[in-house]
Amino acid sequence: MFKPGIWSGALLGAVLTAGVAVAAGPADYEIVDGGIPKALTAQPGNAENGREVAINRKLGNCLACHAVTKLSDQPYHGEIGPPLDGAATRWSEAELRLIVVNSKKVFEGTMMPGFHTTEGLNRVAEKFEGKTILSAQDVEDVVAFLMTLNEE
Ligand code: HEC
Repeated sequence: MFKPGIWSGALLGAVLTAGVAVAAGPADYEIVDGGIPKALTAQPGNAENGREVAINRKLGNCLACHAVTKLSDQPYHGEIGPPLDGAATRWSEAELRLIVVNSKKVFEGTMMPGFHTTEGLNRVAEKFEGKTILSAQDVEDVVAFLMTLNEE
């Protein structure tokens, strides 16, 4: 039996879901010379917020794999990746932006997740499909924080 109410509800749900997925998808960006020179957002990155995103276990969780002397008030510092001290002396802001957005474009086959891409994610739970780990503003904030790591 045809039930128009249910069908139109399902259709509306599908449309709304698609809308959400698009809104949460990665921002447009262009890779130039191994970096992303243009900020992803109009609002400049905030290093204080970036610090919070970096240490947040559900967001950046950077300390799962990296040690950072500036974050020595935080409990665990991993060793899977290199220490991030002095990252701003080794990489330009554009390069750091690309490393955070999609590390695979800089380090082939790296274990580091691409934080603002939907590429290369395997077995993503349905609720995360089409979504990125960090928002465009989170990325800008983390990059601003990385730019403060200018001492080896
Ligand atoms: C699952 C582990 C993992 C996580 C989580 C991770 N990284 Fe990495 N990262 C790596 C590895 C491994 C490398 C070294 C690149 C390679 O694979 O050769 C790296 C490299 C880097 C580099 C370049 C290092 C340098 O100084 O030369 C930066 C910068 C960086 N990561 C930043 C971050 C930030 C910021 C976060 C959190 C938002 C993060 N990483 C989260 C594993 C990780």
